[in-house]
Amino acid sequence: MKKSSLTRRSFIRKTSAGLAGAALAATGVSSLYGNIVKKTNKLALLGGAAVRTKPFPSTWPIFDENEEKALLKALHSRNWCCLRGNAVYDFEKVFAEAMGAPYCALSNGGTTALNASLHCLGVGPGDEVITTPHTFIATINVITNAHALPVFVDVDGDTGSINADLIEDAITEHTKVILPVHLAGYPVDIEKVMAIANKHNIPVVEDACQSVFAEVNNKKVGTFGVTGCISFQEWKSLVSGEGGAILGSDEDLMWRCAAFVNNGRDPKKSKRGYPYPGSNHRMTEFQAAILTEQFKRFKKQDKTRQRNGKYLEKQLQEIPGIKPRKRYSERTRITYISFELDYDKKYFKNVPASKFAEAVRAEGVPISGGKRRYGGGCHKEGMLEEHLNSDAFGASFSKARLKKYRESLHFPVMDNIRPSGKEKLSMEGKTAFLGRKKDMDDIVEAVVKVAKNIDKLT
Ligand SMILES: Cc1ncc(COP(=O)(O)O)c(C=O)c1O
Repeated sequence: MKKSSLTRRSFIRKTSAGLAGAALAATGVSSLYGNIVKKTNKLALLGGAAVRTKPFPSTWPIFDENEEKALLKALHSRNWCCLRGNAVYDFEKVFAEAMGAPYCALSNGGTTALNASLHCLGVGPGDEVITTPHTFIATINVITNAHALPVFVDVDGDTGSINADLIEDAITEHTKVILPVHLAGYPVDIEKVMAIANKHNIPVVEDACQSVFAEVNNKKVGTFGVTGCISFQEWKSLVSGEGGAILGSDEDLMWRCAAFVNNGRDPKKSKRGYPYPGSNHRMTEFQAAILTEQFKRFKKQDKTRQRNGKYLEKQLQEIPGIKPRKRYSERTRITYISFELDYDKKYFKNVPASKFAEAVRAEGVPISGGKRRYGGGCHKEGMLEEHLNSDAFGASFSKARLKKYRESLHFPVMDNIRPSGKEKLSMEGKTAFLGRKKDMDDIVEAVVKVAKNIDKLT
């Protein structure tokens, strides 16, 4: 790909709103764009030929005879429970080492990993846990199920992640834990979160359920807080159907977490009986057998996604009005599980992202457009009011405190998640980015073709 003699900034300056297509043609940002622009093909959405007819990789999860053999081995061992087998405990060591965490305890899900963390940090009735409204509901369930209040902090409109600058104002004498969420492989501003938490001596539990191998400054997310929780549920990038991991460096806390997921047994086996509080959240040997094989596959997949994601990002950011989602530091490693781009419709004759994406999809590229995931926010979910009205909450919080809490559930940015008027385009990089460079070039070609023909969509 040839580089334009124009810098990106000067290129954008020369590009007036609504003229992205013409600008692309005039400047010839790259040879690829030049070629695409010359092909003034009719959009597939309007009956023209699609850029691509071959489907993108979309099979998930991926397995072969290695997973089959591992499963059969576990089956024939007749040790299906980790109390008798080795697969769970062996994978704990492998995963801890790969993540750079001194300790790892596996569980049967990301939710139970979070649950164990909060329980072992003593979160209970009357406490507050600072978190984000922009997450999967499991993050909030573990707080409310402990009869604690999820204190939501508004999000950063550029990223959808918790706005770390607002955390300090949310801290009260009741704050027991700060629980940031790294969504879809994009780390939150974890260094800032840690600095605030350390200043106030409040433990951080990271919800890294969606972000295995995402990093900030060469450190994996999930290893910054006192614990970090990972999910191996099937939608994720490293999977065993269901499954989870708790990572941490505090030996005593991690022993307690390991005990908690195992009905309170002492993991060191130095105390008899059931010396710790707990429940049964154990992973089975079958899950660990699959996970062990999947992890070998995951490491290769992760490298392929990195190569393709970086390449695609470089190409697409040349298009005025399209920008890869902001990262908090130059040294942030995203995992491209879901690949997100800011879309500024001003550059596209006010065509909404959903329409732009529809046209790109018609070209054979699986992209979606619109607002962020979990659009409404967890503060609007019915479960919250159910909890606030429950006897347990009534016994744990004064009426005045609950009234004040209800009145606080307004978040200017989250409630209008793209306040700048920008929308997003996103792709399921988990599968689509397992392809080859040619697949990435097809994505660029489809996006540029739609940008070039944007006036046909108005
Ligand atoms: C952000 C987040 N937190 C927690 C969880 C819970 O993980 P699990 O489904 O493994 O219990 C998920 C799973 O989707 C998640 O996306």
